[in-house]
Amino acid sequence: MAGKFLRWGAVALGGVAVAALLFVGWVYAASEMHLRSFASPPVFGAEIASDAASLARGEHLAATRGCGGCHGAQFEGAPMWGMVVTPNLASYARDHDAATFERALRHGIDAQGRGMYSMPSFNFRHLRDEDVAALYAYLRNAPVAEGPAPSSGMPFQIRMAIAMGDDDVMPAWLASLPALEHQSAPDTPLARGEYLAMTSCNECHGFSLRADVPWESDGRTPDLVAMMAAYPEEDFRRLMREGVPIGGRDLELMDDVARGRFVHFSDEELSDLYVYLNDRAQRALEAP
Ligand code: HEC
Ligand code: HEC
Repeated sequence: MAGKFLRWGAVALGGVAVAALLFVGWVYAASEMHLRSFASPPVFGAEIASDAASLARGEHLAATRGCGGCHGAQFEGAPMWGMVVTPNLASYARDHDAATFERALRHGIDAQGRGMYSMPSFNFRHLRDEDVAALYAYLRNAPVAEGPAPSSGMPFQIRMAIAMGDDDVMPAWLASLPALEHQSAPDTPLARGEYLAMTSCNECHGFSLRADVPWESDGRTPDLVAMMAAYPEEDFRRLMREGVPIGGRDLELMDDVARGRFVHFSDEELSDLYVYLNDRAQRALEAP
């Protein structure tokens, strides 16, 4: 009797184990199919120049757009959220052609053709061709620092959410990125400011800077357009240079990002940025 019971128990347990394995297999297959479902953009063909001016431009872009924040101060790669180890960008740029780099940077598709989850390509989608080329040239010529081996982990819960259609990845999110408004005359303060804001501030302040992101957010980053309605230029400059806001309270993340990244903006860039953000704020006041 007991023996029979045990035998049936084992069969039932075996059934559960098989079902669990099938489910895990399905989650992997369905998520992989989705990750690989994104069409590649046209092959990037801009000329890569390695003259001093291009390399300096690339260095400025890497510093102000914060590649080092996630890829390590010397681009050596770093663990992120216990999920992935970001790749070493100096070796990556040596091992991959400019088209592969551009597809990752602006389109969120990695060298294996899979959509990426955490690399913030929405923030780089609007980078101009010559700036993508300058970044690539700079990274290719940057010294290769020793770092941890890159890994592309994705927790099972995220895979499951992707398999079930409850979560998505960068190339899908990019579809809701708004177009730029002022680039038909790119060399005006408004257009230059828009270019800066929509390739830097949108990383945290939202796709259109209004605390809007297509995924679940922690709700801690304010609507930048609303904030700017009450920001005189002097206070804005101090925030960007020293991380100190109106009223002097400690901003933590914004403080770090200002002192780590935005100190590298030139005076002209800061004034262009102010022109654009102030214009957005004034227009929003007129037509909220
Ligand atoms: C907020 C963090 C973050 C920032 C900022 C960031 N990256 Fe990444 N990047 C990642 C992560 C994480 C990955 C690994 C893929 C993933 O999990 O999405 C990655 C992957 C990459 C890859 C590899 C794609 C592949 O083929 O595997 C390249 C190239 C890259 N990043 C370039 C850049 C450049 C250039 C910058 C700055 C302009 C930058 N990243 C800024 C997080 C970031
Ligand atoms: C890495 C994320 C991150 C990036 C990138 C970022 N911000 Fe912020 N910012 C924050 C967070 C978080 C806060 C809220 C801080 C708080 O209230 O504690 C904030 C707050 C602000 C504020 C309000 C400060 C106040 O007085 O309360 C302004 C203005 C601002 N950011 C401007 C900018 C501009 C301009 C850019 C682009 C050049 C930018 N931020 C890019 C994270 C970021």
